[in-house]
Amino acid sequence: MKKKLAVLLAGAMVMASLVGCGGGDAAPAETSAPAEEAPAADEAPAADEAPAAEEEAPAADEAPAADGGTISVGFAQVGHESDWRAANTQNYQDAFSEANGYELSFVDADNDNAVQLEAVRNFIQQEMDYICIAPIETAGWDTVLQEAQDAGIPVLIVDRSVDADPSLYTTQLGCDMVAEGETAGNWLAEYLDGAEAKILVIEGSVGASATLGRTEGFNNIAAQHSEWEILDSQSGDFTQAGGQEVMESFIKSYSDFNVVVCQNDNEAYGAMDAMDAAGITYGVDGDVIIISFDATHDGLQYTLDGKINCNVECNPLQAEFAADVIQKLEKGEAVDAQTIVKDEAFVAPGITSQYAVTMTQEVLDGRAY
Ligand code: AHR
Repeated sequence: MKKKLAVLLAGAMVMASLVGCGGGDAAPAETSAPAEEAPAADEAPAADEAPAAEEEAPAADEAPAADGGTISVGFAQVGHESDWRAANTQNYQDAFSEANGYELSFVDADNDNAVQLEAVRNFIQQEMDYICIAPIETAGWDTVLQEAQDAGIPVLIVDRSVDADPSLYTTQLGCDMVAEGETAGNWLAEYLDGAEAKILVIEGSVGASATLGRTEGFNNIAAQHSEWEILDSQSGDFTQAGGQEVMESFIKSYSDFNVVVCQNDNEAYGAMDAMDAAGITYGVDGDVIIISFDATHDGLQYTLDGKINCNVECNPLQAEFAADVIQKLEKGEAVDAQTIVKDEAFVAPGITSQYAVTMTQEVLDGRAY
């Protein structure tokens, strides 16, 4: 295992950057301010420390370790609840391969907080060079992050976010979930053009920043529309089975609704199954508008087919940004405290929107996941 050279060299920066998203392009981040100072030798670089350097586009083919050794990375993944998650896991396994000079220790926490915390503690004990955490929930991270910092191990919070003190981790990277929710709401307002909405929401996993952010963002827009009513909002746990179960119970409780917001594609598949079974029509030719999130390949196929009206992207191809952070730390360069992976949205053929791209076969064919 390589020594923690990065800890001796690197500083973190506080400015957030925007990086390209659609189709998984590793687009360059926006320019940030130059670094002023590196952290003390016995500290892991923290996310709220120091201003720093200009961000560069992630370069996948660079030699990984500054000293030529293998870099050990522990990745505590959420689980395997969705197609999005499977694509995200594959992306990390590809980017942090042995061929690329990494030794990746991967733990699938199966959506269990205790398992995820234990995985991080094991990574600390094993003296990993870096730890990546895709946090199941936002809460409960301060103690273990402090332990990682005390051990001098830089921590990257990936995909989702935590509500811990940013000085306890090196960087956070992922999509802006609030903005995703707002895009969904703005699109709906544009599409309905003042018409009434009776809305049912199938939320993601309880306490996840993806759930909290998308809910907050959508509610921000809903608050501007007195003609909208959110009838109910329940967790489908980001799974197809959860989406189906929640939709079945909604159908029993509500006879009059015209919008279903599913906080990921797998929930949308389950909701569509439930509506099919109940004889409820949906999509551009149906009675119920469906909004989904993720825009995975299958989700976009349903959007192209007109079954999902609007699908807001969340790009799972984020590992190259994490690798880029590690490369910079290895070289003693400053890194951004936060990297926001930019999202697009997609709408079914026949719909035009200032907030979304109209789906075509070409868009689908260009999809990398
Ligand atoms: O955190 C990203 C979310 O988690 C994705 O929307 C969902 O599919 C996944 O499970």
